Amino acid sequence: MSVGGGTATGPDPAAVRSMFASITPRYDLLNRVLSLRQDQRWRRKALGGINAIPAGAVVDVCSGTGDFQALARRRWPDRLVVGTDFCEPMLRRAREAGRGRRGTHVCADALRLPLRDGCAAAVLMAFGARNLVDGRTGVLEAHRILAPGGAFVLLEFTNDVSPWMRPFYAAYERCFLVPVGSLVSGTGAYGYLATSMRSVPRAAAWEAWMREAGFGEVGTDRYCGGVVTCLRGRKGAP
Ligand SMILES: C[S@@+](CC[C@H](N)C(=O)[O-])C[C@H]1O[C@@H](n2cnc3c(N)ncnc32)[C@H](O)[C@@H]1O
Repeated sequence: MSVGGGTATGPDPAAVRSMFASITPRYDLLNRVLSLRQDQRWRRKALGGINAIPAGAVVDVCSGTGDFQALARRRWPDRLVVGTDFCEPMLRRAREAGRGRRGTHVCADALRLPLRDGCAAAVLMAFGARNLVDGRTGVLEAHRILAPGGAFVLLEFTNDVSPWMRPFYAAYERCFLVPVGSLVSGTGAYGYLATSMRSVPRAAAWEAWMREAGFGEVGTDRYCGGVVTCLRGRKGAP
């Protein structure tokens, strides 16, 4: 299935949705195997870097099967933690796995969230941003729903792999990511994953969109030799 040719800015949303629906049953297993069990460590590190947040809910956008949402619930046990995703089978999986309280999995497009301005204390997005047809609008939407002082954390593969890591990463992609992903999922989706990791905007572009949207304290942490980037910002900070 090709999801690469949608628009000039990003992949076609309908194809992205059906691709994630097709890999839902094996999604968690493949995350653990293909990341060599690093994916949860990256999510935990991203959450660990968030300091005090104002009153309000925590919203995990592109929440998928709810891994990040579940970790956020542990980090903020007294908050409402809502997961939003536009792929119903992924949300169903999250519900079945008990990764959120009843009613906290909302089917919604990340570019048009059905949430009011300023309702969120923190907005999280892990490995969803590169799938958006327009990443800049995704950042603006996160900013819109955040309360003043609210934290935004975006965890993503960006095109910033360190030079020393590149040969290892190229070998990993060719010999492990694509063949194992294709074999276990029984789909061509992991070919898309590899392509999307190469065509995703660089961290500097996300940072620029965050500043443009009105985020302050914009900063970046690199994990795993730059394979994964954690971008942070705070609404209304200088
Ligand atoms: C790679 S998964 C990440 C899931 C989860 N955040 C995680 O860390 O495992 C990407 C998710 O983004 C969702 N997604 C992609 N584009 C979206 C959009 N425009 N609106 C809502 N969800 C979207 C997909 O349905 C998929 O569940």
